[in-house]
Amino acid sequence: MSKKNQNIVILTGAGISAESGIQTFRASDGLWHDHRIEDVATPEGFAANPSLVHNFYNERRKQLHDPSVQPNPAHHALARLEREHDGNVLLVTQNVDNLHERAGSKNLIHMHGELNKVRCENSDNAFTWLDNLGTDTVCECCGVSGNLRPHIVWFGEMPFAMDEIQHTLDQCDLFISIGTSGQVYPAAGFAQHAKIQGAKTVELNLDPTMANDTFNESIHGPASVVVPEFVERILSGEH
Ligand code: APR
Repeated sequence: MSKKNQNIVILTGAGISAESGIQTFRASDGLWHDHRIEDVATPEGFAANPSLVHNFYNERRKQLHDPSVQPNPAHHALARLEREHDGNVLLVTQNVDNLHERAGSKNLIHMHGELNKVRCENSDNAFTWLDNLGTDTVCECCGVSGNLRPHIVWFGEMPFAMDEIQHTLDQCDLFISIGTSGQVYPAAGFAQHAKIQGAKTVELNLDPTMANDTFNESIHGPASVVVPEFVERILSGEH
């Protein structure tokens, strides 16, 4: 039995989806080695060349519909943790893919947005969008073209649901960081926040990260192996 009423917050990054076939950002074959962040992941880049930005996200959205891209055992283990743990489990992901929800996670925040949504810049309404998006796409809510943008948090923009995340970190007993290099704030500060207010902090990542001394325990290995093992330990009451 896992420890009753223990509040768990989990932060995931691109590493958890790497074994599902989705590129990470900062590896030598990562997305930021082939693309300039300024061009495809900033409001200024979008204003300068919206077609380039749409094409970048269209490609990535299309990849989510590839039958070979499926949730891996790490995504499934986190969904199991939410179902079986006798306490609150909040999953905060920096990922814009849909693999956590496809694995069955429900208490989930996409703090950096979602590839499968678009947003109208006039009304601020976000809605599900599975097709390609272009500068001539007509917005469902205002009937005008050129208003839609990917529902992605770009550099220089505020991530979603920060109040809810901060509040849950304040009550957190166990904080787990999975598959993130810890280089992008505010997410990179969550472990320190949780630790200062008394939580145990654990990192699961393929390689050691620079944030190592923020964690009470660091476990290195592929997410598909180390995450299911760690979830088993929580559910057996070890943490
Ligand atoms: N299992 C576990 N960890 C892995 C695996 C794996 N199979 N493969 C890679 N990793 C680790 C890498 O060692 C690296 O530390 O995942 C981490 C991925 O780091 P980044 O590429 O920097 O991705 P992430 O931390 O999610 O980036 C944060 O930056 O560019 C922005 O908005 C974007 O959400 C993204 C944010």
